Amino acid sequence: MNKMGKRFPEGFLWGGAVAANQLEGAYKADGKGLSTADVSPYGIMSPPDESMTAYNLYHDGIDFYHKYKEDIALFAEMGFKAFRLSIAWTRIFPNGDETEPNEKGLAFYDNLFDELKKYNIEPVVTISHYEMPLALVKNYGGWKNRKVVEFYEHFARTVFTRYKDKVKYWMTFNEINVILHAPFTGGGLLFEEGENQKNAQYQGAHHQFIASALAVKAGHEIIPGSQIGCMIASMVTYPYTSKPEDMFAAMQQDRQTLFFSDVQARGSYPGYMKRFFRDNNIEIVMEEGDEQLLKDGTVDYIGFSYYMSFVASTDPEHQKTSGNLLEGVKNPYLASSEWGWQIDPKGLRIVLNQLHDRYQKPLFIVENGLGAVDTLSTDGTVEDDYRIDYLQSHLEEVREAIEDGVELIGYTSWGPIDLVSASTAELRKRYGYIYVDRDSEGKGTNNRIKKKSFHWYKEVIETNGESL
Ligand code: BG6
Repeated sequence: MNKMGKRFPEGFLWGGAVAANQLEGAYKADGKGLSTADVSPYGIMSPPDESMTAYNLYHDGIDFYHKYKEDIALFAEMGFKAFRLSIAWTRIFPNGDETEPNEKGLAFYDNLFDELKKYNIEPVVTISHYEMPLALVKNYGGWKNRKVVEFYEHFARTVFTRYKDKVKYWMTFNEINVILHAPFTGGGLLFEEGENQKNAQYQGAHHQFIASALAVKAGHEIIPGSQIGCMIASMVTYPYTSKPEDMFAAMQQDRQTLFFSDVQARGSYPGYMKRFFRDNNIEIVMEEGDEQLLKDGTVDYIGFSYYMSFVASTDPEHQKTSGNLLEGVKNPYLASSEWGWQIDPKGLRIVLNQLHDRYQKPLFIVENGLGAVDTLSTDGTVEDDYRIDYLQSHLEEVREAIEDGVELIGYTSWGPIDLVSASTAELRKRYGYIYVDRDSEGKGTNNRIKKKSFHWYKEVIETNGESL
């Protein structure tokens, strides 16, 4: 700490990232329909509870729907250049299949974008972030059904047209590869007994690729100069040993993720996936013209989240010790967060270089951060030095990657204000620079309090990274 480093590139987009369902609350206000998040009281890794009898934190979030002006003023005080947010599909099309949008929902985001504009904060908008309309799941089977592509395209065209003078940066799907790990959240997928689940997941992914390509084409048409990216949950994998089999296993594991950006950035299915489909009896139904569409609708930049790295091993002994959100092998060289996510700043430099080498397109780190328990002391402060250390060490590696030649648009850390966690649907796990006085039972004043990291991040932005 305290060593002065090089400044980041001119115009670098510093900011924070959120998702509508994790902070807006007001889940039924102004004509909003129910989304998949509204019936996920235990988070994205658990099956939905459609009865919704369990208390669901997402329903009230941190009431950003009513408090956004106050919150944006705090982001502006930190000097944010960009704010990544998502549009709740169900505010615009409550059931997903309407022809006419809900004006009140559209007006909410109009006001939000105007508020950002007041402070010259660039909005970066995710069209779909873990919250498709529940009615599309019930009536159509979610992304298994090709019809959903049409509904998504209509939604995308509606928001492009409405916000064309207000939003330049877009992303089509949040963490599109999550359809493999949390199929209900990622694709509105529920399975029948005996169904070939893998097949359904990859078919759903194909529909999302087509929807994304259509959105890229529409966005470029409607908003000349717009930048439309993909967004993957990056999951860089290291071999446990230098054994060639371990190296191969790591490469194959990475390809489960890179497949998604390969299709969206290069515009075709890679050979290794065709083989994977053959070996696993997976058959993707494609329509005529799909291959061309994928080519025509490639993304302008690669957005990605980065929280942790992974390890692959072919030795069953090593596989027994699990690390990370998605299980896997524990890396003996890394410490973990309280939620078991392995902390690896160098991994971020590696991911940045790998993605740059592979695609030669601009990159955008649209999520990174440490989920931790914070303590509000009696004098009203939160001393979150652990968060500062995490972010500092990752940003140092980001700077190195830029020196390596990586073209990077910006950095929006996850949850600049505390919000409901996605994997575990709780408020105990916090990421913010701004503390929200609300707990996992929904109790508290909902007041906003600046943490120590608030002042730290403000200085980072003010000096364009020189203070790091
Ligand atoms: C990403 C998601 O996977 O990770 C976010 O895009 C999520 O929606 C973030 O909140 C952090 O995960 P969690 O489970 O700690 O909230």
